[in-house]
Amino acid sequence: MSENNIKSNHIALNEWVEKVVELCQPVNVHWCDGSEAENTILCGQMVEGETFIRLNPEKRPNSFLCRSDPRDVARVEDRTFICSVNEADAGPMNNWADPVEMHRTLDGLFSGCMKGRTLYVIPFSMGPIGSPISQIGVELTDSPYVVVNMRIMTRIGAKVLEVLGQDGFFVPCLHSVGQPLGEGQEDVPWPCNPDNRYIVHFPEERSIFSFGSGYGGNALLGKKCLALRIASCMARDEGWLAEHMLILGVKSPKGETTYVSAAFPSACGKTNFAMLIPPDELSDWKISTIGDDIAWIKPGEDGRLYAINPEAGFFGVAPGTSYDTNPNAMDSMLENAIFTNVALTDDGDVWWEEMTTEPPTHLIDWLGNDWTPDCGRVAAHPNSRFTAPAAQCPTIDPAWEDPAGVPISSFIFGGRRMHDVPLVFQALNWSHGVYVGATMGSEMTAAAEGQVGALRSDPMAMLPFCGYHMGDYFKHWLRLGKTLPEPPRIFHVNWFRKNEEGKFLWPGYGENMRVLKWIVERSLDRTGAKETPIGWIPRFSDMDLRGLNITDEQWDELMSLDVKRLKAQTLSHEELFLKLFERLPKELIFERQSLVCRL
Ligand code: OXD
Ligand code: MN
Repeated sequence: MSENNIKSNHIALNEWVEKVVELCQPVNVHWCDGSEAENTILCGQMVEGETFIRLNPEKRPNSFLCRSDPRDVARVEDRTFICSVNEADAGPMNNWADPVEMHRTLDGLFSGCMKGRTLYVIPFSMGPIGSPISQIGVELTDSPYVVVNMRIMTRIGAKVLEVLGQDGFFVPCLHSVGQPLGEGQEDVPWPCNPDNRYIVHFPEERSIFSFGSGYGGNALLGKKCLALRIASCMARDEGWLAEHMLILGVKSPKGETTYVSAAFPSACGKTNFAMLIPPDELSDWKISTIGDDIAWIKPGEDGRLYAINPEAGFFGVAPGTSYDTNPNAMDSMLENAIFTNVALTDDGDVWWEEMTTEPPTHLIDWLGNDWTPDCGRVAAHPNSRFTAPAAQCPTIDPAWEDPAGVPISSFIFGGRRMHDVPLVFQALNWSHGVYVGATMGSEMTAAAEGQVGALRSDPMAMLPFCGYHMGDYFKHWLRLGKTLPEPPRIFHVNWFRKNEEGKFLWPGYGENMRVLKWIVERSLDRTGAKETPIGWIPRFSDMDLRGLNITDEQWDELMSLDVKRLKAQTLSHEELFLKLFERLPKELIFERQSLVCRL
């Protein structure tokens, strides 16, 4: 691609780019301006190089299908490292490596790794450009796929350099697919280096290095690496929160919007919840979306917490997404979207499992092979993704780019719990709420995950994303709450409770609006509840169940506490607490003891 006229006056940035060019030896350097024209050229080049397939413009304008190397299809947690100066600061939940040794390893890997390729410089803003809650990063990458995805997922280009000025702070993010090209060697559609993957964070340096993978969170470094792992360290040091949470607005019939932020482990329908459509009986309530994955939350001068979505797009799991389960997500990807590892239809559109009740009679699957419904294979990879601009979401909140953020009234933690936890409960206070978040988890549903039914703990859904010791992270949450005159209320939800016959007791999806309504009204002190050992729960009469065929008895079953199981689960938190013991805040031990006593 030819030189463009974007220039950086930032001395440290220019020096760093020069140093990387010397080390990685690309044939070209391209500073990304983020323009439509640049995007068109890059996508065109990827079509030519067979990395992209242009989808039928009548069905899916300006959209592309990409098939990755089948060895490079997901985040690689076992190859993700936190290289803090002290091993203890990374904590027992992270892979730690000595930062000096890791730098030596990376220098070796990156040496000459971009031969034959173009190095793209992507200045990006996580959060609205110029917001006091936003952060700037610069990703240097040899992957044009990364450029066009970062353009959707973040705000990139010249405007970011303007804000950065001559000496603004940025997080350097260096990425390579790790497959240099020899003289005259032809490229492959998805270059990568699966035997040599490193996703590395230096929390004190606030820097990120990624080698060998081109996929998702391994390569789009603004998302999990910057917005969660590095940002969680910044947030700890500076007194704010970087969380694996969606943010949504709940607008009452009176026109008052209340914002909540919610954390769920993966595969619990976070994107669906962020865009839910209320049932007919509650159609005078509206849900609006600020974000579906990450929240940056800072105390404002009025003592409330204000949140932004640091991202500008959705990188959602495709299978299971449909006009039945999430029409707003489907509408977000009608155009200007990138699809990775889904199937191709005969008329040049995309398909994945459960997108339609009847699968098409013929497809090209994610591996590029012919596929028919009876062939016994899935058509789309289970972790196949759509990348879509958040601005295209029909429920996007009018304030989603407000640099000041939106005020958060409640936090919600959730998990997949078949038997013991009621549909919803409210924590008794902030520190009890932190305990609820710290001990949240999901029951395993597939043998591949471990023992089916056993609880896998995923504190605040941050297990793979907290860039420091989880005990210190809980301490940070507790400390922050103490500085707030009126901290947000904390709730726990569980959409997955089953009866003795194994049938779900709650319909979920849009009906979750009823639970949200109670949560919002509780946060505003406008509805009642009953105190139980685990917290406040809504009585039958406190919930808006109009039009839903739920009897008083069924409600009681859904809200019942299985004290024996709950006690056992509470005691099983011992395992997590022992792991974190050296840095576990005393308040959480106290919370656990008082819960056992209450039970
Ligand atoms: C994601 C994840 O892709 O949490 O958002 O794994
Ligand atoms: Mn996520």
